[in-house]
Amino acid sequence: MCGIVGYIGKRQAYPVLIGGLHRLEYRGYDSAGVALLSDTDQLNVYKAKGKVSELEAVASEKDCSGTMGIAHTRWATHGGPSTKNAHPHVSESGNLTLVHNGIIENYAVLREQLQKRGMHFQSETDTEVLVQLIEYVQTSLGLSLEAAVQAALQRVIGAYAIVVLDRRTPNRLVAARKSSPMVVGIGEDGKEFFVASDASPIAEYTKQMVYLKDEEIVVCERDKELRVYTLTGENVPVEVKKVELDLTMLDKGGFPHFMLKEIFDQPSVLQDCMRGRVLPEHGRVILSAVTDHRERLIKARRFIIVSCGTSWHAGLIGKQLIEHFCKIPVEVEYASEFRYRDPVIYPDDVVMAISQSGETADTLAAIELARKAGAFVFGVVNAVGSSIARNTDTGTYIHVGPEIGVASTKAFTGQVCVLTMLALTLGEAKGTIDKKEYQAVFDELQLIPQKIERILEQNDRIAVLSKIFTYAHNFLYLGRGWNYPVALEGALKLKEISYIHAEGYPAAEMKHGPIALIDQEMPVVFIATHHQLHEKIISNMQEVKSRNGRIIAIITEGDEVVKQMVSEYIEVPDTLACLAPLLSVIPLQLLAYHVAVQKGLNVDQPRNLAKSVTVE
Ligand code: AGP
Ligand code: GLU
Repeated sequence: MCGIVGYIGKRQAYPVLIGGLHRLEYRGYDSAGVALLSDTDQLNVYKAKGKVSELEAVASEKDCSGTMGIAHTRWATHGGPSTKNAHPHVSESGNLTLVHNGIIENYAVLREQLQKRGMHFQSETDTEVLVQLIEYVQTSLGLSLEAAVQAALQRVIGAYAIVVLDRRTPNRLVAARKSSPMVVGIGEDGKEFFVASDASPIAEYTKQMVYLKDEEIVVCERDKELRVYTLTGENVPVEVKKVELDLTMLDKGGFPHFMLKEIFDQPSVLQDCMRGRVLPEHGRVILSAVTDHRERLIKARRFIIVSCGTSWHAGLIGKQLIEHFCKIPVEVEYASEFRYRDPVIYPDDVVMAISQSGETADTLAAIELARKAGAFVFGVVNAVGSSIARNTDTGTYIHVGPEIGVASTKAFTGQVCVLTMLALTLGEAKGTIDKKEYQAVFDELQLIPQKIERILEQNDRIAVLSKIFTYAHNFLYLGRGWNYPVALEGALKLKEISYIHAEGYPAAEMKHGPIALIDQEMPVVFIATHHQLHEKIISNMQEVKSRNGRIIAIITEGDEVVKQMVSEYIEVPDTLACLAPLLSVIPLQLLAYHVAVQKGLNVDQPRNLAKSVTVE
């Protein structure tokens, strides 16, 4: 959830740490802090509630010298956002300081035990227990920092990525992880080290990365080789990976918000997503995952898609695509429910994890369960090298570049694009797809980016339209068939960033309950493109009109029938029914964006949310 950055080497640590926190701020952002071991071996800890800029203001007047330090942006789980609860946390003696991402589940028991042994706590966090426990173990058993970390972590239940600094050993940083990502960058001449919760804050300094595995500890020592151990003290060979990140993708590129940039990125990143896969010269889609695991995939008894939030909505579209083109039954599960439900999983099932960040804790746990049951695990992930990507048997990256805005936009269309390519490839391999239909989808998929461009040209009009609706306290989003998941996604986008309550429903379900809500105050967004069930959705619109509901309709260009029925509409280019979500979701992303802007809200970092949900 939160972000961690650590540095040890020859440079001044503070600029590295603050720059890194800015890069990570989108992940969690209720408070921030930094600990630096100064040039005079003084441990300086500065913290602030709020954004990283607040921390900078606090630190600006202080001593920020030192070539070693750790820093953190917090997304509170235990104890509200406050300066006192912000990390780094310092141990009783003031010798150790630590940053932590995750949750220590047995913190209450541990805290009580430590209090009985005379330790005092300054915060309400689970994290402080960890630093006190390490100190307790270290002093009572006379251990080195790394041995104390090892011993303490064996008593901990939960998830963690931690970095610890001991002011008495100014030559080393110790980090460890379990169920929460952690990467070490090896800098100049192998003599400096960067530690972080993902590669983005350190990629400007080095491409040489070491991804820690679960229950591993790393010792970063000045001027020495990196050392990695298991929790039980065995040596682990250090595996260095070369990671290339396009850092320009981490900037707003002239747009006022990341979210708007990412919405506008969609035409080009969908091209990237299809590059080397949709091959016009061969008239075919080729996905290496399907080529490499053809038999396993076409013989699947069933697909189970596990995901959360927007990725779950993409999964609902994936279900329709795979069932329609491959004739394989598909179940779509919330990862958080699946992992605890004792689900029936067969060894010939394919469990597919869909995730933008590749770090969502529930999705990770769901695939672990699937692996234990012997299922084949397929990842549809955006973040390259992320935990989910590394824990699957195979997969297809969506390749839409880093997504920074908390509200997912380009990742959704990228996921749907990958699922479409997968359904085509697998349907062809299985022989379940009609040749003509394959050709039609193949041709049309390549036109989607330019059709999205045409929708984006209406941005100004959608901004004006959004003004009419900022008064509303509730919204209903209705769609059918391929557009039903789009209704869910449109509603999620609006509530996430504008804080307006919104619900998505299959349009025909309206009369079974939600219709009771409709009056002149209630905007109803109909996703009513010109496809299957069009007449039926028109009847649903009539039902809303007769109750004075205000309709905004997403329609296919030139749909005169609906235009005459409603006062507000947004047109999208015509396309095939199975590709409709790729177009109809775009105006809903823009609508949510502009409503939030009109309301003066923080679009990229909405309250209470975090980009990467690494706690369950
Ligand atoms: C989307 O706008 C959300 N912020 C959220 O629902 C997100 O899709 C969900 O947390 C899943 O994340 P993932 O794709 O990174 O696994
Ligand atoms: N559980 C810790 C806390 O509440 C860490 C949360 C985080 O990952 O930011 O302080």
